Amino acid sequence: MSVSLTGRTAIVTGASRGIGLAIARALEREKMKLALISRSKPPRSVAGKFIACDFSDSAAIPGAVSLALEHLGRLDCVVNNAGVFLEKNAEEISLADWERVLRVNLTAPFLICRQTLPELARRRGRIVNVISSSALQGYRGQAAYSASKHGFLGFARCLAIEGRSLGVHIHSLCPGGVETDLIKGTDLGRRLQGQPMIRAQDLAEIVVFLLKQPPNVDVPEMAIRRFG
Ligand SMILES: NC(=O)c1ccc[n+]([C@@H]2O[C@H](COP(=O)([O-])OP(=O)(O)OC[C@H]3O[C@@H](n4cnc5c(N)ncnc54)[C@H](OP(=O)(O)O)[C@@H]3O)[C@@H](O)[C@H]2O)c1
Repeated sequence: MSVSLTGRTAIVTGASRGIGLAIARALEREKMKLALISRSKPPRSVAGKFIACDFSDSAAIPGAVSLALEHLGRLDCVVNNAGVFLEKNAEEISLADWERVLRVNLTAPFLICRQTLPELARRRGRIVNVISSSALQGYRGQAAYSASKHGFLGFARCLAIEGRSLGVHIHSLCPGGVETDLIKGTDLGRRLQGQPMIRAQDLAEIVVFLLKQPPNVDVPEMAIRRFG
């Protein structure tokens, strides 16, 4: 039997646009109370407390998460979705770019999980990680991005084992190309033009499906591919 999400609470990162915004809208339709963390404000049409934070500044993250916890009062779910793409071959990547991609895509979810796990454990909550198919294989021009996503999946796999003893489910999604701004203007974006893409709403529906699973069912990982 699927679980009702009404009145449950969630932190969603990167909800200002794209996949995170679609997830926030879907959770709002389920009557969940939300705290949304990103650099820019989500559109007014989505409810939830906006908390500004730049994840490339790791020191700013604990304060933003504390504000979110304060607003929500209790925590049932964290959606680690915010991410940044970099399309450069390894020899062209500056140390600053490398570190920025790792801070946003890997260090931020680590810090957020570390801080929220005790609260999630109290409610037998869930973490949903929006990772990437780039966590499962290498692609040309994605050395930093793919390294960050491989790292995120490795972290999430360990967390899933630790989460079991805390009663916290960890769901890691590895989607292929999704129709958002992330890869606009890149070679990858041009290569995928005209091809069937996953829609942000498709992923949002999968997130709702996962959150509605009964506690005796675990879906640790999902590879989600473009098809057609
Ligand atoms: N689109 C795809 O094809 C695809 C495929 C697989 C996985 N993914 C993953 O899905 C997630 C969402 O991507 P998307 O396609 O929705 O991209 P998007 O449309 O570019 O949205 C990215 C989101 O992350 C936030 N973000 C970026 N840099 C940030 C920073 N420094 N600090 C805080 N927040 C930041 C952005 O908010 P602000 O700019 O307002 O900060 C925005 O809300 C990412 O983790 C991405 O790697 C995407």
